[in-house]
Amino acid sequence: MSQPPPASGAAPPPPGAPGASAPDGQPPAPAPVWELIHGVRRYWAVVAALDLGLFEALAHGPRDAAGLAEALGADPHRVGLLADTLVAMGLLTTPGLTTPDEGGPAGGAGRAAERGYALAPVAAHYLLAGARRSMATLVRTGPGPHERWPELADTLRRGGPRVRVEDDPGAFYPALARGTAPVQRAVATAIARELPVPAGPEPLVVDLGAGAAPWALAFLQAWPAARGLAVELPEVAHVTEEAAAASPSAGGRLTVLAGSYHQVELPEAAADVVVLGHVLRAEPRAGARQLVARAAATLRPGGVLVVADYPRPDRPTPAATPDLLMALTILATTGGQGAFSVDDLHGWMRDAGLEPGATHHPLPGQTVLTASRPAGHAAAGPLPRPPGSTVTLSTSWE
Ligand SMILES: C[S@@+](CC[C@H](N)C(=O)[O-])C[C@H]1O[C@@H](n2cnc3c(N)ncnc32)[C@H](O)[C@@H]1O
Repeated sequence: MSQPPPASGAAPPPPGAPGASAPDGQPPAPAPVWELIHGVRRYWAVVAALDLGLFEALAHGPRDAAGLAEALGADPHRVGLLADTLVAMGLLTTPGLTTPDEGGPAGGAGRAAERGYALAPVAAHYLLAGARRSMATLVRTGPGPHERWPELADTLRRGGPRVRVEDDPGAFYPALARGTAPVQRAVATAIARELPVPAGPEPLVVDLGAGAAPWALAFLQAWPAARGLAVELPEVAHVTEEAAAASPSAGGRLTVLAGSYHQVELPEAAADVVVLGHVLRAEPRAGARQLVARAAATLRPGGVLVVADYPRPDRPTPAATPDLLMALTILATTGGQGAFSVDDLHGWMRDAGLEPGATHHPLPGQTVLTASRPAGHAAAGPLPRPPGSTVTLSTSWE
């Protein structure tokens, strides 16, 4: 019997793709559904390993299950099962343990537990708390506050979450900002290398929603004569200040302004670079558009707006999954729009008098748009600020 057409009218998955019917017309294998269930299990297994300090316990060399259990203060059987799971996921290895394929005896869980576990390279680089490109904090914070996900259906119906991250910025943003900084610092360093060094004697870099200032610090590191202005909410500005203090050669030239990027007083037509690093998608449409206009008015003629974001993909292909899941994360946890299309972003740049420029992908999955204020043009208009807004400065800009 032939399959009925999909109710939506969408094309069915091609033969052989996950979810496609078998050639004999039988239902597809349920593997994609199992993968959903396993995804939740995999995630929490890694969070447990992070919470237990399992990766740190292997940082200085392999340990068997008994040694690992002792280091973590837990039972060897239970720790062994978690460690085996992490081996199966490719995050740990079992040094010296051969598989039947490699000509050795079959390796069961008991053997792995006796021979010992070691960090696989991906864990050594990305899951150790102190590693240069550590994603350990990001694993916990990347999905947003976990308790929002079981409410997603209600949130979508209601048009916003019951509790939004921005209702209490100090509760979540500090951890998120610390978690995203290592990857964003690498992205920002690559972009700072791409942009021409500004000609003036003391270039100005303005970073709006700076978090742990990966963007401002990368530019100040690349341009030793530059100074920077980082704007961050008062509840989170201590994270920006800590990051600046931890990187004195660049951070010593960074002024931290505590306040909302919608409201603080910004220098007009003065900045060589203004960065909107992963802030627009957490804004409602009007807020994002207004923020692009404020950023544009801060640029001097010839200055460059840098927008790092995960724009809405044109088509929902498998490759678009990370960007779409990021958009859902924003919908689940904030009052923001979730994602804007590149056309939206370029349109707002043009409306603000900028010329959209190159789009960069400095690391896989990372999108950075640029736009410049034409040289010789003054700012498109006065710096937009909501009527009745107050200005909160923790540090005098001048
Ligand atoms: C996803 S983090 C991005 C941090 C950094 N720009 C990056 O690219 O890694 C968003 C940051 O924007 C800050 N933020 C949110 N709303 C803000 C506002 N109205 N004014 C200033 N900062 C804001 C948050 O506190 C948070 O640190």
